[in-house]
Amino acid sequence: MSNPRNPQINLFKKSAPLPAKVVLNVKLTPDSGKRPASEGKSDIHHIRLEIDHSAYPYLVGQSAGICLPGIDPKKVEKGLPDTSYAVRLYSIASPSFGFQKDGSTIDFIIKRDNVYNSKGELQFQGACSNYMCDLKVGDSVQVTGPAGKKFLLPNVDFSDDLYFFATGTGIAPFIGMIEEVLRHKFIQFTGRIFVVYGAPYSDEIVFQDYFKALIHEFPQVHFITAISREDKNQFDGRKLYISHRVRELKNEIEKSLENQSRFYICGGPKGMETGIIQELHSISKTTASVDEFKKDLEAKDRLLVETY
Ligand SMILES: Cc1cc2nc3c(=O)[nH]c(=O)nc-3n(C[C@H](O)[C@H](O)[C@H](O)COP(=O)(O)OP(=O)(O)OC[C@H]3O[C@@H](n4cnc5c(N)ncnc54)[C@H](O)[C@@H]3O)c2cc1C
Ligand SMILES: NC(=O)c1ccc[n+]([C@@H]2O[C@H](COP(=O)([O-])OP(=O)(O)OC[C@H]3O[C@@H](n4cnc5c(N)ncnc54)[C@H](OP(=O)(O)O)[C@@H]3O)[C@@H](O)[C@H]2O)c1
Repeated sequence: MSNPRNPQINLFKKSAPLPAKVVLNVKLTPDSGKRPASEGKSDIHHIRLEIDHSAYPYLVGQSAGICLPGIDPKKVEKGLPDTSYAVRLYSIASPSFGFQKDGSTIDFIIKRDNVYNSKGELQFQGACSNYMCDLKVGDSVQVTGPAGKKFLLPNVDFSDDLYFFATGTGIAPFIGMIEEVLRHKFIQFTGRIFVVYGAPYSDEIVFQDYFKALIHEFPQVHFITAISREDKNQFDGRKLYISHRVRELKNEIEKSLENQSRFYICGGPKGMETGIIQELHSISKTTASVDEFKKDLEAKDRLLVETY
């Protein structure tokens, strides 16, 4: 299989999207788990669509757009002339030719983006995330994209480390990236992978069995979690976040900052990247400001951020 190098973007637009059939929709989080009822529910799904890669040649790291059918009541309320829903983007969670390597599927990890009050009662529902999580096998959805041309894997052989920092559904692109570098091998990768994955509760860490098997099969993969509402950090005794894990990885990161290692950050809340970048900056011996340090790494494609 040849190495697909250049990201193609916007092949399908909202005005002429690509129809794709749902072939899998599995709920990954328990109905009642560690999350107290007063915090509502966390409902994360793994969704797979059938897609012809020759028509939709996505690269892992890109996102796909979903056209939500119907009328957006918020746009009606505002009296806007176009009342159709805006396209929502979802990170592609499969390697570039799909998990089956045959270019026939695309995967997503999608959370119902709902808002609960302090009693755990549902207040608001995210339109597109609920639409996606409610889909049945055989349903058809309209897809736009691919979108994004920066948040990508190295496209040449790579011998340094890849750091994947994720919160919540931010783990999605990293699953596809791991598959791509370790199993699909478009490039020769001889470095290590550090997955640092933060979630509120331990049973909201998705693909746990996958990661357990992965670290057995590939000792170069390090899988580290930060369970914010169960564990405390060793520095100030408060919530454990992935930024604290970055500090704990100081010795590794110090070496990685000296070579061509890459640091990927994905997930929410928007702004969570700040703490991670500050930790990286502290570990580095640079005299540059945090902003200069960040811009320099970004310019070299060594810091790649996708937060939402
Ligand atoms: C590059 C990128 C990649 C992404 N990847 C993923 C991914 O892999 N997985 C994933 O799950 N998400 C991902 N997202 C987020 C995704 O695009 C959507 O933003 C998300 O699913 C919410 O869309 P929605 O239509 O469900 O919610 P919307 O309907 O847009 O609502 C947004 C929020 O407002 C709340 N709300 C609704 N009505 C009201 C009201 N009247 N008052 C107050 N609040 C209200 C909703 O509950 C929700 O929390 C990504 C975003 C980007 C930009
Ligand atoms: N996935 C979606 O559908 C979606 C879409 C759009 C926007 N968002 C937004 O993204 C945020 C998280 O979404 P999610 O539900 O996918 O994730 P999640 O499952 O709630 O996981 C996010 C994790 O990151 C932690 N965190 C919070 N602030 C942090 C920081 N500054 N640095 C490091 N870690 C931090 C959280 O801890 P605590 O929560 O315990 O503090 C939690 O453990 C929410 O604000 C949500 O509104 C999500």
